[in-house]
Amino acid sequence: MSEAGFNNWIERIELFLNNALITDDGPTKNLLSAMRYSTLGGGKRLRALLVYAGGGICNASEQHLDYPAAAVELIHAYSLIHDDLPAMDDDDLRRGKPACHKAFNEAVAILAGDALQAQAFELISSAESGITAEKKIAMVDLLAKGSGSNGMAGGQVVDLEGVDKPMTLQQLQTMHNMKTGALIRVSLLMGVLCGDKVDDQTWSALKKFGDKIGLAFQVVDDILDETQTSDNLGKTQGADRALNKPTYVSLLGLSGAKQTAEKLYEDSLACLDSIGHNTATLKQLANFVVNRQK
Ligand code: IPE
Ligand code: IPE
Ligand code: MG
Ligand code: MG
Ligand code: MG
Repeated sequence: MSEAGFNNWIERIELFLNNALITDDGPTKNLLSAMRYSTLGGGKRLRALLVYAGGGICNASEQHLDYPAAAVELIHAYSLIHDDLPAMDDDDLRRGKPACHKAFNEAVAILAGDALQAQAFELISSAESGITAEKKIAMVDLLAKGSGSNGMAGGQVVDLEGVDKPMTLQQLQTMHNMKTGALIRVSLLMGVLCGDKVDDQTWSALKKFGDKIGLAFQVVDDILDETQTSDNLGKTQGADRALNKPTYVSLLGLSGAKQTAEKLYEDSLACLDSIGHNTATLKQLANFVVNRQK
């Protein structure tokens, strides 16, 4: 998989999202504008790429993959809008622009998140691309579990309640798996679901791979918060330290966090060893997760 391949998928998802997020001049104009503002024109699109890459190993059609890829990006955009609210991380900058609640207002930001979440499930359930009803239900189930109280939302509450309190490495790992890892794992699995059925052993190896890179992604996010500039990140550098958040850097120091990310990368590749499909693209994505600079 070349860089160009990722760029094609990124262009594809941008176009699909642009078409899915409509605007009009009616009474919900502000809400629709906020939804577009926070979803389009920014973001690495890692979760969408994982959907396409997951489907890519088992012959899924890109027309089918567009729907879960867009759905997970909508859920992710919602999670970022809410994460930046004053009641949560109180961040003013996101993807190089004022956070949604700054560009609009808090009420609109909360509702834009709510509506993006609902639209994510609508995209999958109403997809007109020929995905079977059974596959749609399975994807809705994965996405709900990845974003709900045992996934992203649950992890976010543990994160917020963990401020100013000691946390063990095990607790931190669980929190990161929930708040970030779960959605990354289900992105990959939704893609796999869209293709030819894989055997149980492959499914469980892919699940483990998703867990490893999902955790690695948040460990690296913790590292970048410490080592990069706000300009490069498009979000406020040093936000975790300022809020006294429990992170891999606060528990293990920078070099301990980097070693953890490296180990997770190696573990993730080992999960792919037993898989009889072409996993080159997944390996490239794992590499990106760990070596990215933003
Ligand atoms: C940021 O996610 C929030 C986390 C879960 C760590 P990303 O770093 O994927 O954000 P975008 O989509 O590229 O802006
Ligand atoms: C957020 O983690 C994870 C989400 C579920 C949104 P962070 O709070 O570390 O994300 P950033 O650093 O603000 O993007
Ligand atoms: Mg946060
Ligand atoms: Mg944050
Ligand atoms: Mg962070």
